[in-house]
Amino acid sequence: MACVSGFKFSKSLVFSAIYLLCIWFTRVRSYDDCKSHFQNCLCSTTTVECHGETQLKEDNIIDLYKDISDDCERIVITGSNLTEMQPNFFGSCAGAPDLQLLKLKYVDLSHNNIRRVNGKSFNCVPNLSTLIMSDNQWQIDKYDDEIGYFSKLPHLKHLDLRNSFEDGTDGSIYFSKLAHIFSDTDMFELETLDLSYNEFIGLSEDSANTLCELTNLKTLNFSHNLFNEPAMPTKQDCFNELKTFDLSHNSIQYLTPEFMKEVDDVNELNGKLKNVFLHENPFHCDCGLQGTWQWLKETKAPVNKDQLLCSSSYQSLNNGKRVIDLELGDLVCQKAVVQSNIQSSVQVEIALVLTIMLLVLVVSMIAFAFVHRDKFGLVARRWQNNNPGREVLVPYTILLPSEKGKDITI
Ligand SMILES: *[C@@H]1O[C@H](CO)[C@@H](O)[C@H](O)[C@H]1NC(C)=O
Ligand SMILES: *[C@@H]1O[C@H](CO)[C@@H](O)[C@H](O)[C@H]1NC(C)=O
Repeated sequence: MACVSGFKFSKSLVFSAIYLLCIWFTRVRSYDDCKSHFQNCLCSTTTVECHGETQLKEDNIIDLYKDISDDCERIVITGSNLTEMQPNFFGSCAGAPDLQLLKLKYVDLSHNNIRRVNGKSFNCVPNLSTLIMSDNQWQIDKYDDEIGYFSKLPHLKHLDLRNSFEDGTDGSIYFSKLAHIFSDTDMFELETLDLSYNEFIGLSEDSANTLCELTNLKTLNFSHNLFNEPAMPTKQDCFNELKTFDLSHNSIQYLTPEFMKEVDDVNELNGKLKNVFLHENPFHCDCGLQGTWQWLKETKAPVNKDQLLCSSSYQSLNNGKRVIDLELGDLVCQKAVVQSNIQSSVQVEIALVLTIMLLVLVVSMIAFAFVHRDKFGLVARRWQNNNPGREVLVPYTILLPSEKGKDITI
């Protein structure tokens, strides 16, 4: 019996193996389908994959469309020179909703020298859940009018825009230029947004607020940018689902009071925050860091405090030390000295001005007295006449002759 069941077992095993081989064979066969146009592409009913296909360009991508079946779930194109993404880049659903690629879930377009993305590029792939656009040259600065880049993607969960943008003229991009991508979005299921390695500067409160539209955001990755005073959104009901906020590898020297307050608020209100990464920022450990230091000591937000190091400080005293190992008294500046110097120099200036004013006053009084010396003489005379017992010194020149004699007799 044992032998028979063993035979039965191995028989079904063989059949399964044959069945799997058949499936594999048909898959491998169908993978060859798009080779006639593009040597470095493999296509099956569910997958299209091209790596380093230099023949694939913006104007002939239409030749690849023939090989994308309605059942396609996954498209990966890397290392081509696509330059521009036209409207309805996948599918051709303009005016024909039945030509949508309803099963397409995963698109990887990394490393394709993409410079322009039309606002309607993704209109025919309504069920897309992962979109990778990393390592491209998107010129966000130059075509500001093309709003709505990521519209009609209501089921997108992961958006990878790592190093996706061309450097600005000074090697940096104002995040505000990008912010409009997320206004009027319908990406209400987006969980992961990777914006790392983009040379972004200037994360203002307003542009941070545009991220509030992404109501299901769980991971926001801003690492490896150039933010020095990043803001947090201030809108109500924002970042309600946020778990991880990565601001590591930026240019932060001090945290602003507003930032610290908003992180605390998000932490208290949503109760889901697990990580706020701030490591590898050039913290400047002088008196300017006192507020940040205090906050790190007290906050209940899950900041990776242990990994924050001082990269500069007054007279290099704290360089390389962990911020939380410092005492408040360690956070000193030259500021106090500078302040008193400023004060004393201000005092000197005030004294100088006062002296000059006094001098001018005295000189003009003397001049006034000199010009009106006649009147002064008369006044003095009258005054003396009214007060006979008193001697008054009257300028010689105005003495009357009779009195001259009197003066001389005295
Ligand atoms: C990519 O395409 C653009 C225009 O289509 C062209 O100007 C450029 O030279 C191409 N780059 C490479 C590396 O082939
Ligand atoms: C953020 O992106 C950087 C660089 O792309 C990566 O090393 C890091 O692990 C990411 N952080 C999170 C929390 O995923």
